[in-house]
Parts: sequence; structure tokens; C-alpha cells
Amino acid sequence: MILSIESSCDDSSIAITEIATKKLLYHKKISQEAQHSCYGGVVPELASRLHAVALPEILKETKPYFDKLKAVAVTNQPGLGVTLLEGIAMAKTLAILQEIPLIPVHHLKGHIYSLFIEKDTTLPLLVLLISGGHTQVIRVENFERMKILATSMDDSVGESFDKCAKMMGLGYPGGPLIEALAKKGDENRFDLPVPLRNSPLIAFSLSGLKNAVRLTVEKLGGAEKMSEQDKSDLSASFQKAVKLHLLQKSKKIFAKESIKDFAIVGGASANKYLRNAYETLCREFGKTMHVAPLEYCSDNAAMIGRYAIDAFEREVFAEDPNEVDIIVTRKQQEGMLL
Ligand code: KG4
Ligand code: ZN
Repeated sequence: MILSIESSCDDSSIAITEIATKKLLYHKKISQEAQHSCYGGVVPELASRLHAVALPEILKETKPYFDKLKAVAVTNQPGLGVTLLEGIAMAKTLAILQEIPLIPVHHLKGHIYSLFIEKDTTLPLLVLLISGGHTQVIRVENFERMKILATSMDDSVGESFDKCAKMMGLGYPGGPLIEALAKKGDENRFDLPVPLRNSPLIAFSLSGLKNAVRLTVEKLGGAEKMSEQDKSDLSASFQKAVKLHLLQKSKKIFAKESIKDFAIVGGASANKYLRNAYETLCREFGKTMHVAPLEYCSDNAAMIGRYAIDAFEREVFAEDPNEVDIIVTRKQQEGMLL
């Protein structure tokens, strides 16, 4: 079995996955959303302290599996340095004490493998990754070969939802709050700019749209003066502009890439409005769409464990567990383009 740890942002999570069957045997996640909500975003120092309490609490529950552990896996990048280090310190200690290998895992590859926790691997695959830190389209040929086809120039999808929610005084995380409000809103009330609409660039940018939301909030007299309907309409108009931007750039990629399977992963892939839009696009281009079960869209250790199974089979281990840091290891860099 492999014990996996995730602490790259505000979720403390540990999983146990069986190597032979790839089955998830244990999974627990303690989210810190409530503690960060009043700040409108994640406070790294606070997140780190909360991990330092939550991770050992969860670890205690995995004691029955300890005898059977063949490796420990941990997210070591990308993420918040001070929170990554909480998981890494725990993983190092376990690997050294149990005398088992340590598998450092790239968080975004973990998100890709969230697709294979409950279903068989479908590769090659085109993946749209929309999380709190990244917006990317990645061609995933296999475990070794992944290529970024498009990436964000500034704010990621999740981040833009979080920041717009903050501007409207909604709380954190903004994604689910904006999606829920948008359902009651008129998406055509505010004419927000679709980013890079006239640009040939195949890239993502949301800072301009975020600024347009800020100006609209100001015009309406600030968050305090906005009615529930104003907030719903602005949420819906913003979400529509994000959708149109993602679809416009994705269409260009779909036209070039013959891979039949397409997936959306990452925290923002829980958004049903975006999922529906992509389902229509996939039908248009004859692609089959995949998503992870909702519980594995946001950060979790189950996806880290699932990736680690494939890494274990290929013996992608840290040469010295104590040397694992938040910096990418040489082995991870070789042949991997993420
Ligand atoms: O993948 P994730 O858990 O963490 C990172 O790796 O960053 O993604 C978290 C992000 C947050 O920004 C959150 O607002 C966003 O995912 N998110 C959503 C939705 N649910 C979560 N964004 C849009 N719509 C949603 N329903
Ligand atoms: Zn994530």
C-alpha cells in the first residue's frame, strides 16, 4: 500500500491506496475553508498551522495500515511553500522511520490522475486543468509524456472566481458561491469583455475581466450597496465571460488535436455551468468528455496516491528522502514538461 499526503494549499488530506488493485482503501480530508473565509482567501501562515494540527490527527487513523506500507507519496510542488513543507516533513519522517521509498508528486499531475481513482486510465487525453492556481490545457500521452499546450498569463480560473467573490463581499472559496448566485442572475445584464477575444494567442488571461468586474462593483456603489439581484447578475455575467473565453481558446486547440478523449480537472471543474458548456463543445468536435467524481475535483490525497501507484511501478523514487524539498527533483524534471 502507499500512504499519500496532500497539503499544497488549504486542504489537509491523507489516503491509503492498494498497489496491486489501485483501489482507494482510506481517504480523509480536513478543509480549512471556514477558517480562511473571513479573509477572502488563503492566509499561508494560518494554513500551515492548521495543517500542523490536522495532518497528525488524520495520520493516527491510518495506523492499522502501517505494516503494509511500501512507499509514502507527498505533493512537493506547486503550492504554498509553508504548507507544502508540513506534508513533506511528515512524509520524510515516515519514509525514514519505515525505511520505505518516498515519491514526490507534482500536484497538477495529481489532478490529472484524479480521473483514474474510480475509473480505468483513458490515455492519451487532452486535459483542461482549472484550479485555484492554474489554467492549462495539457496533452497527456502517458505517465512520462505530458505537454502544456496553453497556459494562463495571469489569474487562473479559480483565482478569478475567488477574487470577484471577494469584491462582492461573498466570502471564500468564491467558485461555488458565484456559481450558486449566477443561477439566479441574468448573464446578459453586464457586458463584460471576453478576454483575448481578438487575439490569435492560444493562452488564457482573466485579469482584465477581473478588473471589469471591479469597475462594475464600483459603479454600483460598492459591495455594500449592491442588491442580491445585482450580485447574481454580475456573477452570471462574469461566469459567462469566463466560459466564452475558455471555449474560444479550447476550440482552437480542439481543431488541431486529434485526441478523442477530453477531460476537465481541478477545483473549478466542479462548476456545472462550465461542464455543460464543454459537453456541448465535445459533442460538436466528436470528443468524449471525462470528469472526476465531485469529491476528487478539489485538492485531495486520493489523487496523489493514484499518481503514486504509477510512479511506484516505474520506481520514480526520491534518491534520498531527506533531500526532498518544495523544489522539483531532477528525476521529476527529466522528460516531464509540466
Ligand atoms: O484544485 P483546487 O482545490 O486547488 C488548487 O489546486 O488551486 O481548486 C480550488 C479552486 C478555488 O479557487 C475555488 O474557488 C475553485 O477551485 N472552485 C470553483 C468551483 N468550486 C471550486 N470555481 C468555479 N466554480 C466552482 N463550482
Ligand atoms: Zn489543486
